[in-house]
Amino acid sequence: MKKRIAVIGAGPSGLAQLRAFQSAAAKGEEIPEIVCFEKQSNWGGLWNYSWRTGLDEYGEPVHGSMYRYLWSNGPKEGLEFADYSFEEHFGKQIASYPPRAVLFDYVQGRVEKAGVRDWIKFETAVRWVEKDGDKFNVTVCDLPNDHTYTQSFDHVIVGSGHFSTPNVPQFDGFDKFKGRILHAHDFRDAMEFKDKDILIVGTSYSAEDIGSQCWKYGAKSITVSHRTAAMGYNWPDNWAEVPLLTHVDGNTAHFKDGTSRDVDAIILCTGYRHHFPFLPDDLRLKTANRLAASDLYKGVAYVNEPDLFYLGMQDQWFTFNMFDAQAWFIRDVIMGRIEIPDHGAMVADVADRIAREDAGADDYDAIWYQGGYIKELIDETDYPTFDVEGACQAFKAWKGHKKAGIMTFRDNGYKSVMTGTMAPKHHTAWKDAMDDSLEVYLQN
Ligand SMILES: Cc1cc2nc3c(=O)[nH]c(=O)nc-3n(C[C@H](O)[C@H](O)[C@H](O)COP(=O)(O)OP(=O)(O)OC[C@H]3O[C@@H](n4cnc5c(N)ncnc54)[C@H](O)[C@@H]3O)c2cc1C
Ligand SMILES: NC(=O)c1ccc[n+]([C@@H]2O[C@H](COP(=O)([O-])OP(=O)(O)OC[C@H]3O[C@@H](n4cnc5c(N)ncnc54)[C@H](OP(=O)(O)O)[C@@H]3O)[C@@H](O)[C@H]2O)c1
Repeated sequence: MKKRIAVIGAGPSGLAQLRAFQSAAAKGEEIPEIVCFEKQSNWGGLWNYSWRTGLDEYGEPVHGSMYRYLWSNGPKEGLEFADYSFEEHFGKQIASYPPRAVLFDYVQGRVEKAGVRDWIKFETAVRWVEKDGDKFNVTVCDLPNDHTYTQSFDHVIVGSGHFSTPNVPQFDGFDKFKGRILHAHDFRDAMEFKDKDILIVGTSYSAEDIGSQCWKYGAKSITVSHRTAAMGYNWPDNWAEVPLLTHVDGNTAHFKDGTSRDVDAIILCTGYRHHFPFLPDDLRLKTANRLAASDLYKGVAYVNEPDLFYLGMQDQWFTFNMFDAQAWFIRDVIMGRIEIPDHGAMVADVADRIAREDAGADDYDAIWYQGGYIKELIDETDYPTFDVEGACQAFKAWKGHKKAGIMTFRDNGYKSVMTGTMAPKHHTAWKDAMDDSLEVYLQN
């Protein structure tokens, strides 16, 4: 009997898993039967843009957290697939910070070429997973037909993402605020905030990028409130960085240092929660958003149930090629080429990863830490090896470019570590490029 594998989610992580198995099959190896359950009607995960917010047409929570005009926040040279370069996909080298539609097209291109779409059951939400002897029972709902059924699998691989269930703090006076209060998860179009005074809470990537979008598309002012520390970039004149919000009184926001400001809208860029409503306590990953996730041996095998794997659950400097490294590793465990050690050794592995991450001093250590993790995994499989050091250097240069100009960093280009070619300079500066379509981006 062939093993049966359930993959939950057809975002970049789940698709990496399908490609990993397909690449083994292409080499003539016998692979297990793979069934991927995806609750949306298309693949791509967060990169599959949805205008919807709240609940979808079936009453399911909307997965999408991406918004219109989103461009990659890091250089594409840090995320390029080692087995499918940008040049292979687009027929030429492209500029370094592609908009969402361009990256979606790239992600889709590899799996279209691999021919794995038939492995995916779309519009099928995973409702519950439980262990039954040495099998997993996976209960899913075929959403269009409102039909719930259960199938048995030898392994489950969770690739459902962790930037979709918002972390939503409450501040006094929110209930009487006269404008709009939303979380970044529900932000879709910066044009909504043209000519408005907006307050952003949080200082990470969503805060930086949603604030920048609002600035680019004509917000009157942007005030960013921090809990720990200000971002400290050289912001445009209509930006201010203030301490944490204490309360709101009417439309006046008050901050810890006693200052206040009138605002029209509040956008909570306060991060996300790892949320797995389809998993019971004994299978459910409980971790902070960090590089060394809790309870995952080699960052993927759940220490309490090593037939269960998680993909992409780490905080992310690297993305697509890290998911690949993990997916190839998981494939080789499942296909019996890599052995999982005993429980004690797995727990020690996790503790060591956490200690090494905690020993890092800054973002540069974090980048090299995650680069080292990728290298460690790809050294154990046949995933094409690549210059991870070069990708870390691209991230280092990116950080320098952000310091030099937070509204101009996307105008820089980097060298591909897969093909060695330099990215062309984009035809239009990011701040002036209002049309983010694939057709316009590729007009270099
Ligand atoms: C606003 C935003 C911008 C980002 N920008 C960048 C960027 O510029 N560059 C970058 O490299 N990374 C970026 N990221 C990081 C992003 O996490 C990764 O690029 C990538 O999308 C993660 O892939 P994933 O497959 O792990 O998760 P996701 O992309 O979240 O995909 C998970 C999939 O699982 C499905 N799913 C979830 N629950 C179920 C269920 N119960 N049943 C069936 N299917 C289910 C979802 O529908 C989804 O298709 C961004 C993230 C956010 C939130
Ligand atoms: N264009 C793009 O590509 C783009 C755009 C947006 C997001 N992203 C991606 O999306 C992912 C998530 O980023 P994110 O910024 O949403 O989340 P995040 O990195 O987890 O950051 C969460 C932020 O919320 C703050 N916060 C949390 N709880 C708070 C509270 N109660 N009060 C005040 N502040 C609070 C945190 O502050 P502390 O520092 O005090 O903890 C932190 O600044 C990242 O992978 C990022 O790369 C990409």
